[in-house]
Amino acid sequence: MASHPVSISPESDVLTAAQEPLLPRVLLIDDERDFTALAEDILTQGGWQVTRAHSGYEALQLLSLTRFDAAILDLNMPLISGQETLERLRRLDPTLPVIILTAVADLETAVSCMQMGAYDYFTKPVDWQRLQLALRNASRVRLLEDEVQRLRSALQQRYGFGDIIGRSGPMRDVFDAVRRVAETDVTVLLQGESGTGKELVARAIHASSKRRNKPFVAVNCAAIPETLLESELFGHEKGAFTGAIARRLGRFEQANGGTLFLDEIGEMSPATQVKILRVLQERRFERVGGTRSVEVDVRIISATNKDLEEEVREGRFRQDLYYRICVYPIHLPPLRERQGDIPILVGHFIQRFNEKMPRHRQIRSVAHDAMRALEAYDWPGNVRELENVLERSMLNADDGVLRLHNLPPHLQRAFPEGRNSGAAISWKQALAHATEIPTLEEIEREALKLALKLTKNNVTAAASRLGIGRTTFYRKMRRYGLTDSPQ
Ligand SMILES: Nc1ncnc2c1ncn2[C@@H]1O[C@H](COP(=O)(O)OP(=O)(O)OP(=O)(O)O)[C@@H](O)[C@H]1O
Ligand SMILES: [Mg+2]
Repeated sequence: MASHPVSISPESDVLTAAQEPLLPRVLLIDDERDFTALAEDILTQGGWQVTRAHSGYEALQLLSLTRFDAAILDLNMPLISGQETLERLRRLDPTLPVIILTAVADLETAVSCMQMGAYDYFTKPVDWQRLQLALRNASRVRLLEDEVQRLRSALQQRYGFGDIIGRSGPMRDVFDAVRRVAETDVTVLLQGESGTGKELVARAIHASSKRRNKPFVAVNCAAIPETLLESELFGHEKGAFTGAIARRLGRFEQANGGTLFLDEIGEMSPATQVKILRVLQERRFERVGGTRSVEVDVRIISATNKDLEEEVREGRFRQDLYYRICVYPIHLPPLRERQGDIPILVGHFIQRFNEKMPRHRQIRSVAHDAMRALEAYDWPGNVRELENVLERSMLNADDGVLRLHNLPPHLQRAFPEGRNSGAAISWKQALAHATEIPTLEEIEREALKLALKLTKNNVTAAASRLGIGRTTFYRKMRRYGLTDSPQ
C-alpha cells in the first residue's frame, strides 16, 4: 500500500503529508508552437499532463525542477540541437524515456539518437495513436526502472544508516563511530539500555563493512539454554550426544567470512565465557564431539544492556574476556537524553506503519499537544517502546490526525500542560525552546519550504519574501531536493 511521506512543518501544529500523485506527465519539446498546441490537445485527451518547452534550454530548465514520466523531443530545433538536448536530458535524468520526432530526411540522426539511449522515434506527420502507445509503454518502463532504483537504495539504506534515525549530538557520535569501525575488523561492544538500537547498529556496521556480502549471524546468549549453547555456537559432530543424528555447523562457522553478533553477552554463564574467550584468542575451536579444530574468520560484535565493568568488578564477568570484546566500545544513548530525535523518529515510524494500512486509516499529521506529550515522556523502553506506542495509538486515530487522547493514558499524564494547550507555536518560539541547535542548512531548507508553502509554490514570490533572487532560490531548491514534492 502506497503511503505519503510525513514531514514536519515548522509553521503549523501538525506533520503534513505530501500531495497526491497526478496524471502521468510528458514534456513536449518542439520549437513549432502550432505543432505543440495541437500535440498538447491530443495528448491531454489521451490522459496526459503536458508541459511544453519551445527550446532545449527551456526543456532542461523544466526537467531540473520537475519529474516527468516521459519526453517527446523534436530533433530539428535552433540554439541547441535535438541531439545535444537529448544528451543533456539524459545526463540530468538517466531513466527518462525520450521519444524522438524527426523529418524523414533526418532518419540517420534518429538512429544515432537511438544509440544514445532514446526510447523510440517517430517521423512527422505523427501517427498519434502509435505515439501514445509508445508513451504508455515508455512510462511503464520508467516506473519499473524507478522502482528498481528505489528498492536498491532502500536496501542499501536499510542498514546503511538510512534506517538508524537520529540527528542529535549523541547519535551523530554514534554514526561517527560506526563509520570509523565499519572499515576495520575491530571487535565492537555495543552498550545501551534495552530498545536503544543495539542490534540495528550491529547490522549497520556489518552492512557498511567489506563483509557486507557475507552472513550476519546473531546469537542471543540469554535465550539459548546453557546446555545447548556450546553446540549452538560451535556445532556438533554426528553422534556427539543423544539426538545428534547429523553433523551440524555452529553459529561461528555459519558466520565464516562475515559478522557474528553476540547479543546479551552479559548473560553468558562462566563456563561459556571461557569457551568464547578461547575462540577469540585462537580463532579456532572444535565442534562438540569432534577432535579436529576448525578455523574461522569472523568479525565479532557483542551487545549488552548491562554495565559490564560493574559485572567485572562484581566477579560475574571475566575480565580477560571483557578486554577481548571491548576493543571498541560504542555507547547508545537512551532516548530521554536525545529528545530532539523524537519528532523525526515519530515521522519515520508513522510513515512505516502507514505503508501497512489502507489509505483511509493512514496518519497524515500529529497534533501539536500529542507531539509534546511524546517528547515529554521519559521512554524507559527507548525507541522500541516509542515504536510500539505509535503502532497502537495510530489504530485509535480516526481522522488521519494522531491526537493526545489517542495516546496511552500514562503518556497523556506525562504531558504537564494537559489536554487544552493545542495551540501552534511560532518558529521563533520553537527555536527558543529547542534543546538541539539545528544547522544553518537545516534552517535554510525549512525557510525555503515555508516560503514555498506560504506563497503556494510561487517561486518568484517565495524568493522575494526571503529577500533573495529567483535564480539563487532555484539553486537552493535543487540543493535541498525541493524541486519536486515529495520532500
Ligand atoms: N535510531 C533508531 N532509528 C530507527 N529505529 C530504531 C532506532 N533505534 C532503535 N530502533 C528500532 O527500535 C527497535 C529496537 O531496536 P533494537 O532491537 O536494535 O534495540 P536493542 O538495543 O537491541 O534492544 P534490546 O537490548 O532490548 O535487545 C527496533 O525495531 C529498531 O528498528
Ligand atoms: Mg537487541
